Amino acid sequence: MVAETVVDRKKLIMPHFILEGERLREQIMSMPGISRVSSDNLLRDLESDYKLGIDKILLFGIPDTKDEEASGAYDRNGVVQLALREIKKHLPGILVITDVCLCEYMSHGHCGVVDNGEILNDPSLELLARTALSHAESGADMVAPSDMMDGRVRAIRDRLDAGGFDDLPILSYSAKYASAFYGPFREAAGSAPQFGDRSTYQMDCRNAIEAGKEVLLDIEEGADIVMVKPALSYLDVIYRIRNLVDVPLCAYNVSGEYAMVKAMAKLGYGDEERLVKEIMNSIFRAGADMVISYHTRDIYRNSWF
Ligand code: PBG
Repeated sequence: MVAETVVDRKKLIMPHFILEGERLREQIMSMPGISRVSSDNLLRDLESDYKLGIDKILLFGIPDTKDEEASGAYDRNGVVQLALREIKKHLPGILVITDVCLCEYMSHGHCGVVDNGEILNDPSLELLARTALSHAESGADMVAPSDMMDGRVRAIRDRLDAGGFDDLPILSYSAKYASAFYGPFREAAGSAPQFGDRSTYQMDCRNAIEAGKEVLLDIEEGADIVMVKPALSYLDVIYRIRNLVDVPLCAYNVSGEYAMVKAMAKLGYGDEERLVKEIMNSIFRAGADMVISYHTRDIYRNSWF
């Protein structure tokens, strides 16, 4: 009765990795329980998840081929676009959010256009806007830019409005830190940068005031929901942003945070249920309104919340 925090599982979002092709299912070694699947298997998973009650998802595409313009990201028949149309046809009750980024589609693995070893901010905006619009045209309910280029929320908002999607919301990865906790994701998505790192566009973990600036800029540019990512090493940032702005706040409980829990449980160093409950309570206690987490399916299946 006096508990200050109550976790509502309806506020959880389940991420998925989609492969091109058919009948594919590849377990991600560092993330037990999470696989990369082709869209036929994805539909099967979504259907059984939907029966459990999971009705909010985030999609990542893993294309077969990559190039220097990330052309697969905004291809009408790209891996995400094809899956979106299938999902919307067969499972219209699911809210589908798409990750908008170029790194999975770029041969060099960076989130923007590269020239002479440098990541170029402004030329990347056009490709990101194109990607967001093509997701919208294929049926996305919400787009989530994760690239961290400056000005991309405005570029995406303008393009969506011009394309007739003025009511499609943007969930912006506003305060996204350059983090070692993305390690398993990069294995899953094959998106590790081929040279350098993401520190010229993602945030420095020593900074929290700057997160406020990033969030305010994104809201001014048209973000409807803002995000802090990762979650666990950044609970203070979640708390700070919660007190700074009045738009919905999302937190991303990232791949490395999930992998740590699974590894502990496997080694017998901790009880998975208690770990997951404590983690979720902490993120919501800090002030998140919704959480993207790979634990979502386990939480529903085991009725942990
Ligand atoms: C793509 C992207 C990343 C994640 C979400 N979108 C990886 C990165 O920035 O390197 C991380 C998700 C996770 O670790 O679970 N830019």
